[in-house]
Amino acid sequence: MTTSAAAPRRILLGITGGIAAYKAAELVRRLREQGAQVQVVMTEAATRFVTPLTFQALSGRPVRTGLWDEAAEAAMGHIELARWADLVLVAPASADFLARLAGGRADDLLATLCVATEAPIWVAPAMNRLMWSNVATRANLATLVGRGVRLLGPDSGSQACGETGEGRMLEPAAIVEALRGVGSTGALAGLNVVISAGPTREPLDPVRFISNRSSGKMGFAVAAAAREAGAHVTLVSGPVSLPTPAGVRRVDVETAAQMYAAVHASIGDADLYIGAAAVADYTPACCESQKIKKTSDCLELSLHRAPDILASVAALERRPFTVGFAAETTEVEKHALAKLVRKRLDLIAANEVGTDRAFDREDNALLLLWPGGRRELALKSKADLAREFVAVVAERYRDAQRSVAQPVPAAV
Ligand code: PMT
Repeated sequence: MTTSAAAPRRILLGITGGIAAYKAAELVRRLREQGAQVQVVMTEAATRFVTPLTFQALSGRPVRTGLWDEAAEAAMGHIELARWADLVLVAPASADFLARLAGGRADDLLATLCVATEAPIWVAPAMNRLMWSNVATRANLATLVGRGVRLLGPDSGSQACGETGEGRMLEPAAIVEALRGVGSTGALAGLNVVISAGPTREPLDPVRFISNRSSGKMGFAVAAAAREAGAHVTLVSGPVSLPTPAGVRRVDVETAAQMYAAVHASIGDADLYIGAAAVADYTPACCESQKIKKTSDCLELSLHRAPDILASVAALERRPFTVGFAAETTEVEKHALAKLVRKRLDLIAANEVGTDRAFDREDNALLLLWPGGRRELALKSKADLAREFVAVVAERYRDAQRSVAQPVPAAV
């Protein structure tokens, strides 16, 4: 198995004021173990929690704290420092710092560097749960994510203030894991990819549900292949009994409505969405609170349309590159093409399903269709097929990016 999981080489680590600043010491150590050079920049508030000396010893470089330090500026000016970084990581990122970043402020060294850099910026927020859920913080985050700032966490759990909830800084090991592949040469290096996999279950009563034969194997193989290609993968999975591929963030759901919510919760900063799940098209109009009794010879079920997750992602104003699957028993290409057009997809992977095909098998074959193109991927193990599929998706994604970036010809 190939892996493209090196961390970026030159990391500018911003540390802002918060009790989680102590975790940044462990972060520096782990990043250096991965071979990264780490330049620490602390805000004034951060120096009240941990001394710059600690980080100097761990990073092996003098820590920068102010815009007006003449000796440090003479060695490497702040603009030079902003250019030096392959990646800016702010961990912990306080509510105040996120507000200043969203506002484009340049009122201390770290904020100035963030405004001056062309490197990708990642933030690992850490704050009290109420500060995290405050509308102003949410609005600042939405602004930052909209600008391409990448979010790491936060975790939920017990907090330094004695409360419990969301807002804990992600553990250093998880941050380092998330940064693997950023700056790598994999075909999806550094991209955020959301993938759905497995079946959904639509409950009829407390003990029965409507579902299908999907095992999740295809979607999980795609998640592993995307991770191998350097992507940050969120895998939204229906009920399956498969282990989570290494380095993949997994969200478990049961129903189509839950899958819809989980996909949309992660889609904000996604570059790609791949819908490999076999989502219910219809869901019971109501779920009985008690077990349905056997009272007559015939039982009629009333079903409503379930939300179409794939179409809803493709319809977003800021939509990711959107890839669907089509499971067909007849006229595979014709039906898949119709779905490609109707759901406004960038690419569709069609597979013939039925007895002994695709569902719950170790192998599969796919026909890939996109506007103006097609490619057949012959029958092979789902792991190998997923790698080929991901390579084509990456190629199509890059093509789409290039055409968006084409300058509009000047009017003559
Ligand atoms: O899980 P395995 O056992 O490995 O089997 C793999 C697979 C056959 C399930 C997989 O390869 C596959 O084809 N997945 C898509 C199954 C499906 O629901 O196809 P569809 O043609 O009904 O739907 C078209 C697309 O719309 C799919 O991307 C689906 O995820 C999406 N959809 C469908 C319904 C719905 N309510 N919301 C959706 O997003």
